[in-house]
Amino acid sequence: MNSQRELLAALDLGSTMTRVLVAEVLETGGESTLLRYAGFGEAPSEGWRKGNIADLDQVTHSVASAVEQAAKSAGAQIESVVAGVGGAQIQGLTSRVGWTLSQRSREVTRDDIRQLLEAARNIPLQKDRELLHLVPQEFVLDTQEDIHDPMGMKGMHLEAKVHLITTSTSASQHVVSAVNKAGVLVETLVWEALAAGEALLTPEERELGALVAVVGNSSCEIVAYRRDGLCASASMPIGGNHFTGDIAVGLHTALADAEVIKRNFGSISPSWSHSGATFEVPGVGNRPSRFVRRGALNEILDPRAHELFDFMQEELRRFGAENSLGGGVVFTGGGAKLHGICDFAEKFFHAPVRIGLPARIEGMPDLLESPEYATLTGLLLYGQRIRRLRNPRPRPLASRWKTLLGRTIQESVR
Ligand SMILES: Nc1ncnc2c1ncn2[C@@H]1O[C@H](COP(=O)(O)OP(=O)(O)OP(=O)(O)O)[C@@H](O)[C@H]1O
Ligand SMILES: [Mg+2]
Repeated sequence: MNSQRELLAALDLGSTMTRVLVAEVLETGGESTLLRYAGFGEAPSEGWRKGNIADLDQVTHSVASAVEQAAKSAGAQIESVVAGVGGAQIQGLTSRVGWTLSQRSREVTRDDIRQLLEAARNIPLQKDRELLHLVPQEFVLDTQEDIHDPMGMKGMHLEAKVHLITTSTSASQHVVSAVNKAGVLVETLVWEALAAGEALLTPEERELGALVAVVGNSSCEIVAYRRDGLCASASMPIGGNHFTGDIAVGLHTALADAEVIKRNFGSISPSWSHSGATFEVPGVGNRPSRFVRRGALNEILDPRAHELFDFMQEELRRFGAENSLGGGVVFTGGGAKLHGICDFAEKFFHAPVRIGLPARIEGMPDLLESPEYATLTGLLLYGQRIRRLRNPRPRPLASRWKTLLGRTIQESVR
């Protein structure tokens, strides 16, 4: 391996699959860089229960196998990763912090803004919660609201409206431990939905107001943007496995068969028109298989879809973002492959809906052009931005590794 080659690796710890994507960071002149595909590895996830780590050794084993595969495919050692975290422990909230600049009007400096955001970072959290991301939404200078960047403007009192994304300290420590035990450092810990949201939406969509929903196996995570700023974030404990479970119970079949049935015949499309056609359902135990109408499957999946979408709507309402979807809705994650999800969502949200495919990484194989890999590319792009913020000018690989911290580092994305 060429020792000057700068690599960046992303790790998506899902409850069904553990995935690693490696890219080479290429300088393209000035501050701009380009990511070129270098390698990929994935391993079935073991040791998860309801979206939480239940067995650290098993999770470590999955991480080690995915990392090993990715390293082999990239032809390089993977020493650190940008690790995604998710699940029902994630919580989003908005808050305000204020700062008196002076008794007389004066110019706002970069330092004032930094101190204000530092104060926001220290907003007290509940026990066992830690800040994962702090995203400034807008500034208020005296009576003027909606300021994007107050630097250079004059006033006496500066306030910031911020969006905080927090997680359970123990959950994030378990992720870091599993990765470290696999012999890898955590370069940055990122909420997977934030990484996906940043990578999948265009600036126009963010400006108009848009929602990104990452539908995984055990949870669904949402981020919403309005006027180019993050305005809502939430995690819901419903994912693809709940649809599968409903099929298993409703059709009296094994979970593995229910999963195949869901993928091959399931749909939540309201305008679906094959309800009379039948498919075979393997029996459990020694019972014979039966033929069931596809319409019956639709009837099983529909209430779960309504439950999930009602949850999303409720969360958007909590942040006052339910009427801000002019830029549409993007579904990603493996659960977004459920047939009819776009039709269902269009009727539900009265907004245009699309599936979010992975962001373009030069040379990435076509096989990875599927929504379950979108988080990985989001993590890479996010990690690249954070690396540049910390290290404006790239240093040789060896010295950089020494500065990496195997712990959560809170960053603002702006
Ligand atoms: N063709 C398909 N139709 C419907 N659902 C699908 C399809 N393919 C995959 N899924 C569902 O996608 C889910 C897995 O998605 P993904 O790989 O994003 O999850 P994960 O990252 O491992 O889980 P999580 O993020 O919740 O921990 C499973 O529930 C699976 O049933
Ligand atoms: Mg996932």
